Amino acid sequence: MTEQDRHSSAEQRLGTVGIAHRPVDAREATTANLAWWDADADDYQAEHGDFLGDADFVWCPEGLREADAGLLGEVRGRRVLEVGCGHAPCARWLAAAGARPIGLDLSAGMLRHGKRANARTGRDIPLLQATAEQLPLGTATVDMAFSAFGALPFVASIETVFAEVRRVLRPGGRWVFAVTHPMRWIFPDDPGPNGLTATQPYFDRTPYVEVDAAGRATYVEYHRTLGDYVRALAATGFRLVDLVEPEWPEGHTRVWGQWSPLRGKLFPGTAIFSTRAPDGGA
Ligand SMILES: C[S@@+](CC[C@H](N)C(=O)[O-])C[C@H]1O[C@@H](n2cnc3c(N)ncnc32)[C@H](O)[C@@H]1O
Repeated sequence: MTEQDRHSSAEQRLGTVGIAHRPVDAREATTANLAWWDADADDYQAEHGDFLGDADFVWCPEGLREADAGLLGEVRGRRVLEVGCGHAPCARWLAAAGARPIGLDLSAGMLRHGKRANARTGRDIPLLQATAEQLPLGTATVDMAFSAFGALPFVASIETVFAEVRRVLRPGGRWVFAVTHPMRWIFPDDPGPNGLTATQPYFDRTPYVEVDAAGRATYVEYHRTLGDYVRALAATGFRLVDLVEPEWPEGHTRVWGQWSPLRGKLFPGTAIFSTRAPDGGA
């Protein structure tokens, strides 16, 4: 199945007929993305499940693993929250490393795959269905939090998510998240040569929206510049300690959507922000 076929299945179910660039508020974005990820969950697993594994921690399509990157530091005994966990392979890898992970995701469809992977591996990771904008966890109850392409591209306000993560983190806790590298926004979503020519202004934050015949959003993705991320982190009290831009490894041939060896050799596809909550707590 090609990437286009994969998307067409969810698009058909949701009645997607076109693309718009227009403002989308938090309520419309949440409704659209909940429906999208539920509709796309089976195809997403069929397409990416083997690359992600059931108990493996891969940060990004470039294939960077936490086992090599060590961005979370010592995890043994720590309570770790995965934001936008999908079927939660990272959380399961963390459990095997001695952590006490919790997976959180908006989509019941994605979490259904999480429960199946729990059963397959015998690792019963707690899985919560909630939006990252309103974490159902107590204040200062988590040692570290992370996200690998979960939630952040799809929410209207990253400041809201960062503030929630800051609230649930204990003092000094790490918040590490991977997102599409903001510079990718300027290129068409194409892994081939067409994806090498800039067509879209970097500074235009108007969301990418797919719509049904009535003009309702069926999928929403937001763009933030690098500066937007840095400012949102500063505004919510996080200290940025590193910005990792994984390079495309020699011999890595796997294409994931717009990520490909062709483009990966020329410019970054992923940005991983490594940050810390203040030592004094929230
Ligand atoms: C690209 S997937 C990444 C999942 C997982 N890290 C992986 O690599 O498969 C994005 C995930 O974010 C979830 N998501 C989208 N919006 C969310 C929100 N507002 N709150 C929590 N999760 C959300 C989706 O349901 C989906 O599982």
